[in-house]
Amino acid sequence: MRLFSTDLDGTIFDGSASAEQFAEYWDSLASLDPSPVLVYNTGRSLDDSRALVEKTPLPHPQFYICGVGTQVYGDQDPDLTERWHRHLSNHWNYDTVREVVSRLSPARIQPRAAQNAHKCSWWWEDAPAAHIAELVAAIQSHGLQVQSVYSSNRDLDFLPVRANKGNAVAWLADQLGVPLDEILVAGDSGNDASMYQVSGVHGIIVANAEPALVSAVKSERVYHAAHNCAAGVIEGISRLLTERKPRASAS
Ligand code: GLC
Ligand code: MG
Repeated sequence: MRLFSTDLDGTIFDGSASAEQFAEYWDSLASLDPSPVLVYNTGRSLDDSRALVEKTPLPHPQFYICGVGTQVYGDQDPDLTERWHRHLSNHWNYDTVREVVSRLSPARIQPRAAQNAHKCSWWWEDAPAAHIAELVAAIQSHGLQVQSVYSSNRDLDFLPVRANKGNAVAWLADQLGVPLDEILVAGDSGNDASMYQVSGVHGIIVANAEPALVSAVKSERVYHAAHNCAAGVIEGISRLLTERKPRASAS
């Protein structure tokens, strides 16, 4: 594992005890050679994620992927954000997406802070999959390349096809020269599904994950933890590291 891409809410964070537990464990991995890169990969906005890290014991990550893979940020590479932004702007127009969805569905727009230039987010409980597919088709008829991401049976995000958590972490790993099979991902809800689809990645699904994620992810490289949240993540990483340890050769 050279890069760990983890969701925050419900995965390593559900209050300060989980944050502390994860922080302590992550600290203990610093002696690994090479020491893994920590990436927070969340639906929260960048501002919101950084504020959360400041006010809780969560360790500082090297990179943030925020807004369901629409924002990438790293202190060491100030140009990264703009490069990802340009990559997403292909065949995309936020205003068109917003207009089509408000005209053709009963979904309620999320607050302004949840929107960004490449993420148009709504609330719609029990949204029928066929209706979401119709919205995607209606947006595409305007020449846009869009995808929908449905989480927690309520949150509905429309993003450029090039975005999402999985595409963003694959792009970041490429920028850093990290092979995809050296990535470990962890999550608990619908918007995490794309991370497990990155070719060759290893994954952890925490025990408290929503059933829709569990049934969407079918990969033998994914470990289903017995514990919830941070404890499940720690369980999964420890297992991966033990499996990877070179066995003592028989003589
Ligand atoms: C986070 C975001 C929200 C999004 C949801 C699912 O809660 O704040 O905008 O809809 O994740 O991706
Ligand atoms: Mg989550």
